[in-house]
Amino acid sequence: MAFPREFMDELLSRSDIVSVVSRYVSLSKRGAGYLGLCPFHNEKTPSFSVSSDKQFFHCFGCGVGGDVISFVQRIENLEFADAVTKLAEWAGLEVPQSSFGHEERDKRKRALEASRAAARFFHEALKGEDGERARKYLLGRGLSPATITRFGLGYSPEGWSNLLDELVRQGYTKAELLAAGLVTTGKTGNIYDRFRDRAMFPIIDARGSVIGFGGRIMGEGEPKYLNSPESAVFNKRKNLYALNLAKSSKAEFFILAEGYMDVIALHQAGFDSAVASLGTSLTDEQAHLMSKYKNRVVIAYDSDGAGRAATERAIDILKRAGLDVRVIVMSGAKDPDEYIKKFGPDKYRNLIEGALPAAEYRLAASKQSFDLSDDKQRVLYIKAAVSQLAKLENAVEREVYAGRIAKETNVSRDAILDEAARERKRILREREREEKRKILDPVGALMPKERGARYKNARSAVAEEAIISLTASDLILAKSAGEKLSGKIFSSELLGRVFDIIYNRARNEELETDMSVIAERLSEDEVSHIATVFARNGNLSRDALSDYIETVLREHMRYEAENDDAAILAAAEFYRKKKGQKNG
Ligand code: GTP
Ligand code: MN
Repeated sequence: MAFPREFMDELLSRSDIVSVVSRYVSLSKRGAGYLGLCPFHNEKTPSFSVSSDKQFFHCFGCGVGGDVISFVQRIENLEFADAVTKLAEWAGLEVPQSSFGHEERDKRKRALEASRAAARFFHEALKGEDGERARKYLLGRGLSPATITRFGLGYSPEGWSNLLDELVRQGYTKAELLAAGLVTTGKTGNIYDRFRDRAMFPIIDARGSVIGFGGRIMGEGEPKYLNSPESAVFNKRKNLYALNLAKSSKAEFFILAEGYMDVIALHQAGFDSAVASLGTSLTDEQAHLMSKYKNRVVIAYDSDGAGRAATERAIDILKRAGLDVRVIVMSGAKDPDEYIKKFGPDKYRNLIEGALPAAEYRLAASKQSFDLSDDKQRVLYIKAAVSQLAKLENAVEREVYAGRIAKETNVSRDAILDEAARERKRILREREREEKRKILDPVGALMPKERGARYKNARSAVAEEAIISLTASDLILAKSAGEKLSGKIFSSELLGRVFDIIYNRARNEELETDMSVIAERLSEDEVSHIATVFARNGNLSRDALSDYIETVLREHMRYEAENDDAAILAAAEFYRKKKGQKNG
């Protein structure tokens, strides 16, 4: 708990989840709760539900869920403490300054300051005597001095403690430098610079803070890029390289490239809306982050096989975030950096303008793998194309592309549309079945994501889910259930833990339990799972509680008995063997 209890209680009591969510999502009353379009994935029929009863949200479509704080964290891409601060602002509360939360934030602040100081140190080193080779390297790669300054590029000198010594001199502790990922601990506990003799690329978040670095080796060697480790300040999944610059570009779209150098080359050539992920493949969080600034993304990945595979993945991720996706098709160079060097910015501008809508790109990509003069291959291409057509949500788009495929393959447009319609029906049926399965199947579809939390005994788990759902928002039921049950005998360890939280709160504090009280003690995945549990157990009858309790007790006894049997059998076997040894 990072903030004082009383403050959090006050904050949560003033932050009704329905009104907080309503700032972002238009909700309508549905039964006991509210329903709207999920802000975390792209959907046309609402499956995002909010319960004012238990103060949680849950999406039946994409499975995310949690309490009011995790909602703000997710939608605003904030750390816990920052989400709390935001909620406090809305609720007209002052965030206590002398709290532990303050200390935590101080640590973060110190790590950020250390990173900024490191960026300054690397940049100075690049300009200094030792930086000559790195300067030559960067200039040799076509970067102008202005670009080097604009991106704050630098050089980490050779040796083991250049940065360490300097930042300690500036007053940073070793612990602070470790927390910022600037130094590393060796096997014997010795501490040394993480980045040595590399060209340095500071990574700056949307607010302008230096959060980490990529360091490129200047000759051959591994790894080519060394990145800062994940830390309290550096989250690779939630940030994008150069977003600090690209977010205020006049362009209506982001250009999404694979590498740091591509982004820099693009900016230098005048395409100042280029960004890249941070040494990992694109994430949903990054797509969501982009969607806060612009509606369209143009993918500019490498032209090799890996780049094409990454493009396929990125299209789905970006579409899920509701973005309009285009793809640049490039030949004659392996990445944008090389292309611009070879052919110049104007040619690249043509590529951007000619970028294909995602659907068209996919059709073009599958067309390339077939020889249309061969009848058999032509049929295969039509099949592949039809299945892509069928996935398009827009009927006009389906018509247009059907016409195009018809021309290419010399098959009537109607025949193609017929096939696509049939395939589409199948997809819709399948989707509907999947939705139903998610909502109806109590244990199958929405098992906890973490392996360790999987249900072992489905019959008992159904009853356990019902028990925590009924008791969380009902003090009397919680107390009566707690007299007969303890979380220890639940078949699911997670559900048992949640039950204990609910019962203890009912017994000690005489209060009902909402999602925030539970969320404090669970991991993010666990919170999502419990939100799912609450959501699918929304309309149970209070009268059924005793049946559920009985089921859990019975299943527990059966489990014990089975294990006892097993223990007896094992013991018998043991003695039989022992006896055999004696006699033999
Ligand atoms: P250059 O070779 O300098 O032109 O690099 P690039 O920017 O074109 O990057 P490349 O296409 O080789 O790789 C794309 C991105 O993947 C890079 O910008 C890095 O973020 C990441 N990356 C590349 N190599 C490594 C590596 O060895 N380790 C890690 N962690 N990330 C890497
Ligand atoms: Mn490159």
